[in-house]
Amino acid sequence: MNQETDTSPPEKSADQRPEHPDFWSKRFGAGTTPWDAGKVPDDFSAFVGRQAAPLRTLIPGCGSAWEAAHLAARQWPVSALDFSPVAIETARGILGDAPVDLVCADFFQWQPPAALDLIYERAFLCALPRKLWDDWGRRVAELLPAGGLLAGYFFVCDQLKGPPFGILPEQLEALLQPAFERLEERPAADSIPVFAGRERWQVWRRKG
Ligand SMILES: C[S@@+](CC[C@H](N)C(=O)[O-])C[C@H]1O[C@@H](n2cnc3c(N)ncnc32)[C@H](O)[C@@H]1O
Repeated sequence: MNQETDTSPPEKSADQRPEHPDFWSKRFGAGTTPWDAGKVPDDFSAFVGRQAAPLRTLIPGCGSAWEAAHLAARQWPVSALDFSPVAIETARGILGDAPVDLVCADFFQWQPPAALDLIYERAFLCALPRKLWDDWGRRVAELLPAGGLLAGYFFVCDQLKGPPFGILPEQLEALLQPAFERLEERPAADSIPVFAGRERWQVWRRKG
């Protein structure tokens, strides 16, 4: 019998793979959350202030969900979603009894209870391994009706190792341009150190 040497790299455990909830639960559990702004970022707060009426909003990969509290306080219907039970526990502590639909679920499986107007992006796409990016692009397009908005922050740079995984401008356009047109694009006003100089505020509108 031939004896072959197995040269494949050892399988990584779940808490070493960002596509697995254990990766994030371990970090929330240890209080190691360098991506967490601890507040509502300025561009988003200004965007919310500019809207004439509340938008039905989804925050995928919500983590601590600071923004959900801000929206709920303004009577915006908001679903905040995370697949890590420890992230959801953290968010629950921050939200208290704010009227937020806080859901522990996988973004790629979750079905909205009602049609959405807005998906808010912050540190979610850059948390996903690149093999999931096409699925992310398809899913945000499926979840929004014509005229619906995708607004938030994108980690635009060539950082290969992550999370956060950097995305190049042309890669982001390839993901979104088939189904969306871009309305706003500028540097983020108040990035925290992990994203500083490489974070862009963008608003995209779902085409008809
Ligand atoms: C880098 S953190 C960002 C958290 C938050 N958006 C913020 O700005 O502080 C990424 C979050 O996405 C969540 N996440 C990753 N993949 C997910 C998925 N497929 N479905 C739902 N949540 C996911 C993780 O559990 C983690 O809380």
